[in-house]
Amino acid sequence: MGRYVNSGTIAVVAALSGVAFGAQSLMADGLSLTPVREKTVAKECAACHMLYPPALLPARSWSSIVANLNNHFGENASLDDATTKAIADYLVANADTGGIGAKLLRDLNPEVTPARITDLPWWKRKHEKRNRVGPAALAENGAKFKGDCKACHKGAEQGSFDDD
Ligand code: HEC
Ligand code: HEC
Repeated sequence: MGRYVNSGTIAVVAALSGVAFGAQSLMADGLSLTPVREKTVAKECAACHMLYPPALLPARSWSSIVANLNNHFGENASLDDATTKAIADYLVANADTGGIGAKLLRDLNPEVTPARITDLPWWKRKHEKRNRVGPAALAENGAKFKGDCKACHKGAEQGSFDDD
């Protein structure tokens, strides 16, 4: 553990998610997004499910999610005000960053604020094909719900969706 102490936030986040960030530079083309590189988000937003790279949702979705943590998909995930603000600031600043992430937000009505990644039209089109996230596919991959991306995309928390 000691060797992480002096190497800053990135190493702490890497340690928390159990992966080496070096792997990211090995990725060629395909869909790769910047992973979470902030230790509060990495700690608080990966307690119940995978840590979602912020480019997976538009800024307005993150604002809404973080503003409603007291009723987060039926769970109380609320945090103190300072922590909540730090998380909102990071997710909003790193959302919707264009580039390859823009693919995910394709065809999304700007008036709509999706509560889930799995509500994005592009995501639904990709996954409804061949019943990719039907009950059988979820069970086969050990996915707890459709948003359990990393059950099927091993590199999901590192922002890699092209490894399978
Ligand atoms: C106390 C547990 C808990 C914590 C902590 C938590 N979540 Fe969740 N989250 C859930 C549950 C439960 C769901 C819905 C799972 C389902 O549909 O089966 C969910 C779903 C989500 C989804 C939707 C995924 C999809 O596309 O279906 C996002 C995005 C999300 N959480 C973000 C966050 C963020 C950001 C944080 C940190 C501020 C956070 N969560 C912390 C329990 C939690
Ligand atoms: C039950 C398994 C499963 C789950 C859960 C799942 N996916 Fe997928 N996903 C697939 C399959 C199968 C494909 C099509 C094959 C491929 O391109 O890897 C796919 C394709 C994709 C692609 C397109 C890759 C490309 O190059 O076209 C992206 C991006 C993606 N998924 C993101 C996600 C995200 C984000 C989540 C979580 C919110 C998620 N997936 C959850 C199985 C899953």
